[in-house]
Amino acid sequence: MLETAGIRLDISGTEEYLKPAAREALAPAVATAAAALEAGTCAGADYLGWLDLPGRISEAELTACAATAQRARDDSEVYVVIGIGGSYLGARAVLDALGGSQSGHPEIVFAGTGLCSAALVRVLKKIEGRDFRLCVVSKSGTTLEPAVAFRLLRGILIGRYGEEEAAKRITAVTDASRGALRSLADQEGYETYVIPDDVGGRFSVLTPVGLVPLAVAGVDINSLVAGARGMMEACRTDDLAANPAHLYAAVRHGLYKLGYTTEVMSTFHSGLQTVQEWWKQLFGESEGKGGKGIFPASTVFTTDLHSLGQYIQDGRRNLQETFLCVRQAVTELEVPAEDPGGTNLDGLDYLVGRSLDDINWKAYEGTRNAHLSGGVPCTSLEIDQLTPEVVGGLLYMFEKAVGISGLLLEVNPFDQPGVETYKKEMFRLLGKP
Ligand code: PA5
Repeated sequence: MLETAGIRLDISGTEEYLKPAAREALAPAVATAAAALEAGTCAGADYLGWLDLPGRISEAELTACAATAQRARDDSEVYVVIGIGGSYLGARAVLDALGGSQSGHPEIVFAGTGLCSAALVRVLKKIEGRDFRLCVVSKSGTTLEPAVAFRLLRGILIGRYGEEEAAKRITAVTDASRGALRSLADQEGYETYVIPDDVGGRFSVLTPVGLVPLAVAGVDINSLVAGARGMMEACRTDDLAANPAHLYAAVRHGLYKLGYTTEVMSTFHSGLQTVQEWWKQLFGESEGKGGKGIFPASTVFTTDLHSLGQYIQDGRRNLQETFLCVRQAVTELEVPAEDPGGTNLDGLDYLVGRSLDDINWKAYEGTRNAHLSGGVPCTSLEIDQLTPEVVGGLLYMFEKAVGISGLLLEVNPFDQPGVETYKKEMFRLLGKP
């Protein structure tokens, strides 16, 4: 068990499959990949800004985010964040993991995360009769989904507050100089934040892409960044057994080579569902290239034990499982005793006085045992309690791990050429000039 910054990594459930000697044999390749990241000599070296980002975020940047947050708090009940993919998943993941907006802070609502009109209608209902601001996030400044949502919401904002006040209620997070959003923001005088050139969308949660909405929600972004910084330091060593990102990358890669080509991330904490979505983008978009890559999937237990649990236990044996488990969730609820005279007809008296968190943890331990007995190699990431520090550390650990494991696969982990294909087809059908 390796404990780092509040996260325990347990790979004992993989050793029957990937023998310790085989795992350790991957150490030189992992060290070579890490050195290439550090030296900037790997594929995609123009996009390595995330690597030392936690150490470079300045007090001034954090203060600017806090000032934006204060303005939103002063005049808005709802803060609509418009973006898709890497331009929204990180903020949403952190927010959901930490239980949403803090009391007294605006509710954060996400828009432009697709083209579904029903989703946009839900956003419109949220702002009905409530003061709101918009934060539009797009690195390219040209992505269709957020652009459409922004046009629509901007019109409503202007209708509600007038041109001048509306412009004061918009923050644009985008490229320093390129793209339609940058031009619009400059022309209209919106407040702007810059997404660094050398940080790709799925690695951008610790740039203003994530930090601005999270600050507005009242998340302690200083602690989030401090947690990521601590993990960054811990992930520098070449000692495989002491480096959680490298160890996780090596284990999942070793299992992949043995035919475990799908990785299911399973959690028992419903608030981690969007962390799983963020993780799926990070790993899927970074690794799935050239006919290679682990397919990232996710389940939320115990809910999905009553659906996908059957497949994981007993279906095709190409699955490796990574548990992401939290011992204590948000509140401490216990199974109550029945009123005097109760007859224990529901048979639950043996659980009286036990917390739901404790029962949930036993469900995790039992599920892990079951899946191990079903032939699924299991890695565990165990956390006592989700705090901004721990979440910051977790995100950085995954970023470093995917950098390493992409290079082990011999792909460029930092590009995403495949996502252009659907866009071309869609724009052709839409008649884009
Ligand atoms: O990881 C990525 O690069 C993508 O998911 C992008 O973040 C996403 O497509 C949104 O792009 P943009 O920020 O340019 O609107």
